[in-house]
Amino acid sequence: MIILGFESSCDETGVAAVCTERGLLAHALHTQAAMHEAFGGVVPELASRDHIRRVLPLSRQVLAQAGLSLRDVGAVAYTAGPGLAGALLVGASFACSLAWARGIPAIPIHHLEGHLLSPLLAEPAPQFPFVALLVSGGHTQLMRVDGVGRYTLLGETLDDAAGEAFDKTAKLLGLGYPGGPALARLAESGRAEAIELPRPKLHSGDLDFSFSGLKTAVLTRLRQAQANGAHSESLAADLAAATQQAIVEVLVAKSAKALRQTRLKRLVVAGGVGANRLLRERLAQALRPLGGQAFFPPLALCTDNGAMIAFAAAQRVRAGLQDLGQAAQAGHGFTVRPRWSLDDIQAGPR
Ligand code: KG4
Ligand code: ZN
Repeated sequence: MIILGFESSCDETGVAAVCTERGLLAHALHTQAAMHEAFGGVVPELASRDHIRRVLPLSRQVLAQAGLSLRDVGAVAYTAGPGLAGALLVGASFACSLAWARGIPAIPIHHLEGHLLSPLLAEPAPQFPFVALLVSGGHTQLMRVDGVGRYTLLGETLDDAAGEAFDKTAKLLGLGYPGGPALARLAESGRAEAIELPRPKLHSGDLDFSFSGLKTAVLTRLRQAQANGAHSESLAADLAAATQQAIVEVLVAKSAKALRQTRLKRLVVAGGVGANRLLRERLAQALRPLGGQAFFPPLALCTDNGAMIAFAAAQRVRAGLQDLGQAAQAGHGFTVRPRWSLDDIQAGPR
């Protein structure tokens, strides 16, 4: 069966066609980063309006790329949460209207489940069970994954997410939005060891994180340098390198601890921060002595995209978790959940 999936939870409009038997057939993405850059962050109303403009042309593009017509589509899937309410509503209403018009089921998908299963789109795909490190702009979590829909939270951030720490520090350093990739680029010319930054909760004994202190530490260093007239481009690069190093070190240490604690050998990294090169290198190094192996989604599918949503729906259908008959019969109403814990996934978006 062919599933057409839609992602619109934040500032990326993603559409993809996935076959439950053959995998990903085509996907297309529009990122709004340039539009939001002038404001230093995502403007929700602008995001919603842009999703409306993009979703139809992207859907046509995906169908054409895959050589499909609407008649070939057996179900639609959409991100039902968590995310920006208005942005989510665009994808949900578009998907559900299409499902209603075609008389096919609409499958609501949890955005983080999309990220969590996206490494299965890579070759080689990890086998269950595994530990997943979810590192996106809004979430930092370690989960035990025993199968599709079988997720146990092992630890999470108590305040800022790792992506948020990248973004907020980048903002302090005057880098554009989104800050993570820009900070990682600047870090390449900096000396991480030149500046000492805290490693929050590194030795806390649990699997939780806390990143909000990092931006404060960076701000303090910047203010000191400004007061001494010592602010320079090389200081910004050193701060970028030190921040990246601190975030990566904590993520790597806690991931290794999660593997030891669960006695599992496979670690799956998902979410936008999974695109970070230093994180990828350091994880590979740290897992080697444990006999562990790290798996990442294809680089293009690390950040938000439609492929992971269509793919998560396909996995749920294959695992028998989705009653398609009931979904097709369901009324024409739909809802989204801007706040929705992955623990709560069995409850669905309603
Ligand atoms: O998963 P994602 O696309 O969106 C959310 O669901 O939040 O993640 C976006 C986050 C942003 O914080 C962005 O700065 C970060 O991922 N990011 C990176 C890199 N690429 C994206 N952070 C560090 N290094 C990167 N190369
Ligand atoms: Zn995401």
